[in-house]
Amino acid sequence: MSNYHIKHLEEYYQVYRKSVREPENFWEEIAEEHFMWRKKWDKVLSWDFSKPEVKWFEGAQLNITENCIDRHLATRGDKTAILFEPNDTNEASEKITYNQLYERVNKFANVLKAQGVSKGDRVCIYLPMIPELAISVLACARIGAIHSVVFAGFSSTALSTRINDSECKMVITSDGSYRGAKTIDLKGIVDEALKDCPCVDTVLVAKRINSEITMEAGRDKWLQPLLDEASSECEAEVMKAEDPLFILYTSGSTGMPKGMVHTTAGYMVYTAYTFKNVFQYRENDVYWCTADIGWITGHSYIVYGPLANGATTVMFEGVPSYPDFGRFWEIVEKHKVNQFYTAPTAIRALAKQGTELVEKYDLSSLKTLGSVGEPINEEAWHWYNDNIGKKKSPIVDTWWQTETGGIMITPIPFVTPTKPTYATLPFIGIQPALMDEHGEEIKGNQVDGRLCVKFPWPSMARTIWGNHQRYKDTYFSAFENKYFTGDGALRDEVGYYRITGRVDDVIIVSGHNLGTAPIEDAVNEHPAVAESAIVGFPHDVKGNALYGYVILKDTGEGRDHNNVRKEINQIITEHIGPIAKLDKIQFTSGLPKTRSGKIMRRILRKIAHKDTSNLGDTSTLLNPEVVQDIMDNAL
Ligand code: WT7
Repeated sequence: MSNYHIKHLEEYYQVYRKSVREPENFWEEIAEEHFMWRKKWDKVLSWDFSKPEVKWFEGAQLNITENCIDRHLATRGDKTAILFEPNDTNEASEKITYNQLYERVNKFANVLKAQGVSKGDRVCIYLPMIPELAISVLACARIGAIHSVVFAGFSSTALSTRINDSECKMVITSDGSYRGAKTIDLKGIVDEALKDCPCVDTVLVAKRINSEITMEAGRDKWLQPLLDEASSECEAEVMKAEDPLFILYTSGSTGMPKGMVHTTAGYMVYTAYTFKNVFQYRENDVYWCTADIGWITGHSYIVYGPLANGATTVMFEGVPSYPDFGRFWEIVEKHKVNQFYTAPTAIRALAKQGTELVEKYDLSSLKTLGSVGEPINEEAWHWYNDNIGKKKSPIVDTWWQTETGGIMITPIPFVTPTKPTYATLPFIGIQPALMDEHGEEIKGNQVDGRLCVKFPWPSMARTIWGNHQRYKDTYFSAFENKYFTGDGALRDEVGYYRITGRVDDVIIVSGHNLGTAPIEDAVNEHPAVAESAIVGFPHDVKGNALYGYVILKDTGEGRDHNNVRKEINQIITEHIGPIAKLDKIQFTSGLPKTRSGKIMRRILRKIAHKDTSNLGDTSTLLNPEVVQDIMDNAL
């Protein structure tokens, strides 16, 4: 027993060794002792990365919401499960106890059923960070419907693409949302998206901002009256271990977003176990992750992981800058937050504001600080450590991905000595490998390479919705018998990992994973654009910002370049969302290409980085002369 909660470094190594030597025994014990099963498994693990096929806890039956809600009622019924902090400081925060959560999830689940949703159906959730978001996620899980949450900052085109890809029959949204001093017309975005979504027959609308919206008869229904009528008892659907729990889209380096499919039992076990250890959560702690539930971080570490542990999890509707840049610290003080989990981009934005607004608040409740989404640079790490953690709260720099479902490489606070910019050691059960360009594993320390994982873990995505071949090609083809992450990493002299960044055409902007190809496709929609190439360049708040090289169809003379720039960003906003806007747009007569016609992004990246001392060999280019021209006109 008690491998569940690791308390010192020796124990970490001991448990880690066990998890690698006898993974099946190890995970079986964790699953057995800490969760509620309708039926136990016949087999802990079967896997074959060449197909790829991975199954955990095959034969088991369960419902994740019984683990996240029902089983806590006897001992934690009146404990706060979700602590909702609204955008507006004048609006009261709301404490939803486990008893109340049970009631609200069951009512919502009954509404879904009454509206014709059943097990296996896909439901798209497009909501702001209000309680209905977490509740609708859990309501889907209650009845075995597969939720597909789309971040409510995505545009109507991005929304309709995702709805159609997984053929959702319902959309759950709200009349609008608050974002700092602004309101956003979410329902209008949904209406626009649904012009192209024949699969959707019902839209449930939560009231949040009391705006005037149009309700399409027969399709759109206000949520509240339906909830008022619904029973607060809904028998949980009995799910198989490998039944899909949800789909979550993530950008690829090319083409359509990938609908990563996560399944039930393994995902539950791993997110719960990582939550407990990575945040050292103790009963009655208040835990706050500032992410949006529209991202995997919110799925795993606002909803499922914390609730499976009976924790109190904060849901914040607003932004770090409203009403001022002290908002995060005000909330930490107000709710006596013990674990605080945020992204480097937020830390950098707040650090820019100095420490005056930090010092106004009492942050002494904090025990553990977390970071996720992109590499945390040394300066931000120290600012976080010195000013927020006051050098006494360890920073857990957690590396993972939408695809991995849970945290993969991370310190365990008060257990693993931290080191700035290092995600440090693999979590229990995770077997990383660094690979060289010939496909060989690089052994030993003080080395760097491409980061892979060589053994399955319970919460890994099982496929891409509707495209298993793409799943295989993207993650299991670069290196034989290994999951390839797309990241580069180095391993230092003691075996600590530092993630060095993407090695493909994905750029992480403010912690958001953006593929260059879909943005280029959007840019190319502009009638004056002939071709474009997008690369990242370092940005002091966002981590990376986007730099677009654009060839215009005519010479561009007579056009107002600034207008074209605005129009391009407008198109990007419509197709993807404002997060994908280009910070710099350079008009150019050509792009450096290889003889096979592939754009040499390496060169464009260097120019955007203002690092042109060593451009490498450009002689093999089809058009080496454009390089000088691009350099001369670089922004
Ligand atoms: C990519 C995955 C995992 C939830 C948020 C992002 C980068 C993530 C770290 C970290 C360095 C990180 C990687 C990864 N990344 N966390 N602690 N240090 N890089 O999920 O959108 O699927 O993005 O984010 O490049 O591959 P995602």
